[in-house]
Amino acid sequence: MNFFPEKLEKIEPSGIRELFSKAKGKANVISLGIGAPDINTPDGLKEALKDAVFNNFNNYDLTPGNKEFREAITRNYKEDYGVDYSSEEGVIVGCGGVQIIYVALQTYLTPGDEVLLQAPCFLTYPRQVVLAGGKIVWMPSTEDFSIDIEKTKESITDKTKFIFLNFPSNPTGAVMTREELKAIVDLAVDNDIFILSDEVYEYYTYDDNKHVHIASIDDAYEKTITVNSFSKTFAIPGWRMGFGVTTPDILRPILRYHTYIIANATTPMQIALANFMHTKEAKEFKKYVKNEFQTRRNTIVDGFNSIDGVKCKRPKGSFYCYANVEETKYSDGKDFSERAFEDADVVVVPGTEFGPNQDNYIRASFGSVSVPQIEEVVDRFKNIL
Ligand SMILES: Cc1ncc(COP(=O)(O)O)c(C=O)c1O
Repeated sequence: MNFFPEKLEKIEPSGIRELFSKAKGKANVISLGIGAPDINTPDGLKEALKDAVFNNFNNYDLTPGNKEFREAITRNYKEDYGVDYSSEEGVIVGCGGVQIIYVALQTYLTPGDEVLLQAPCFLTYPRQVVLAGGKIVWMPSTEDFSIDIEKTKESITDKTKFIFLNFPSNPTGAVMTREELKAIVDLAVDNDIFILSDEVYEYYTYDDNKHVHIASIDDAYEKTITVNSFSKTFAIPGWRMGFGVTTPDILRPILRYHTYIIANATTPMQIALANFMHTKEAKEFKKYVKNEFQTRRNTIVDGFNSIDGVKCKRPKGSFYCYANVEETKYSDGKDFSERAFEDADVVVVPGTEFGPNQDNYIRASFGSVSVPQIEEVVDRFKNIL
């Protein structure tokens, strides 16, 4: 008997998750597959969680999130970007950034609505758009992995409901400038399109590149849902702690939906983060991780570019590099990834996971490998090539 529901046949399984489980069963594997930091969660945050549990913060809490936690989140945006969100009506806490994107799309999309996604993008977006009954419209990227604004203009119709922005980007590490982003914001505002800005890598920008909080650009605030997460910021992807900030008008219907999916996000985690996120240790941790990732980025980019046929731009942010392998002996990024796994015990992800026309690319995460491991990967690639 086939019980597999038809509505899920259009949703491909996650190639990255499959690689993740394959790699777990093999010895000597170095994985540049999954997008998670290998750095230990700060001790102060672990202590704060223990305290929250032992102080009996184990009950249900409010649907939008714990009050003190929401206040701590809005304080961040005021201090970092000068944007005032209402802690009472403008914050939603969920089980990871992914769940916030899910509830936003499920709330606002009606069948046939169009969603503009950059190719390449985080693989969850297209799957979630389809799950919510929407239609994906791909926005091409320029040479430097920015959104091609002129081509995007031509894709807007009266059905366009959302435009997704994700800078710093997964998978390319691109960061667009404020001026470039303003042109996209204007396009969205003029055409009455919601902006979903996924800013989970906001703290990881390198050299002179600065993160731009989209809602801080002119009229963007009124149309933007910002998604964020503590998975990467404090190295706690397993805690499943994400949130959104937006206007009360945009949030109200989302919260109605949210109530019936999760009721509220895990209480002790929220208390722990509320008590930890503005401490000196938290600030130092963010600085330490950023420096560590910048060193890894330099090692991996220089290493990859020293391999014949591999070309890799220096990512301005996030912890991925997106390398072109077109000129290697392998036929494409998929073939490269398969050979890397079978012959070199290295996991990288083929570009095809991230959208159309990505056949020539592989994504390598340097979030969970040390500098010596990166050097070892470069040696292994040189050997198989
Ligand atoms: C761009 C982007 N958004 C969201 C997420 C997921 O974050 P969370 O763990 O909070 O669900 C990821 C994880 O890799 C990501 O790369």
